Amino acid sequence: MPAQSPVGPIALWRSRSGRAAAFADRCPHRGMRLSHGFVRGETLSCIYHGWSYAQGGNCLRIPAHPGLAPPETIRVATQAVEDSGGIIWISVGEAAAPPPRLEGFAPLRSMMVEADIAALEAAAGAKADGGLLDHRHDDRTVRLLLASVGEARTLMHVLVGEDSNPTERIAASRAAETLRRAAEGIRRGRVAQ
Ligand code: FES
Repeated sequence: MPAQSPVGPIALWRSRSGRAAAFADRCPHRGMRLSHGFVRGETLSCIYHGWSYAQGGNCLRIPAHPGLAPPETIRVATQAVEDSGGIIWISVGEAAAPPPRLEGFAPLRSMMVEADIAALEAAAGAKADGGLLDHRHDDRTVRLLLASVGEARTLMHVLVGEDSNPTERIAASRAAETLRRAAEGIRRGRVAQ
């Protein structure tokens, strides 16, 4: 799948054995988006001319030259990936710190909010800490993992307690929707002032 990042679009993929990798979304050959490619075992193949790349980013195979061992210089830029607790973390360059600990929580859904993190904090009546905002509703906590997307948009990942039953998950999802609408209302109010 393609994803945006400070280093440009990323092709995020998982090999057959289950390992995730994050590539620059641009084939070194003619620039085709690698997110349009396909996974074959432990490699990602470009959909255009079929060049195949290992998870380290090095080219393993050029179908038009089957007898050629691709030179080491043909490689895709990669970013470090950590796959933990149902969330895939990508670090751009050296990771400044390990991902936050999310024990006891499981990802439920993600949504885009047309407001910044400050508006979400105001709507929740709580402060985010390290990108995590705990939102209380009905005596339970919805943990929100927030990532700014530009100045006035936030990607909000909703996490619930691992032991939540379906009714509680639906309630958490609705609480996140309500919070999203409230934050967007706060932002609209600020813009109108
Ligand atoms: S553009 Fe990717 S193999 Fe040619």
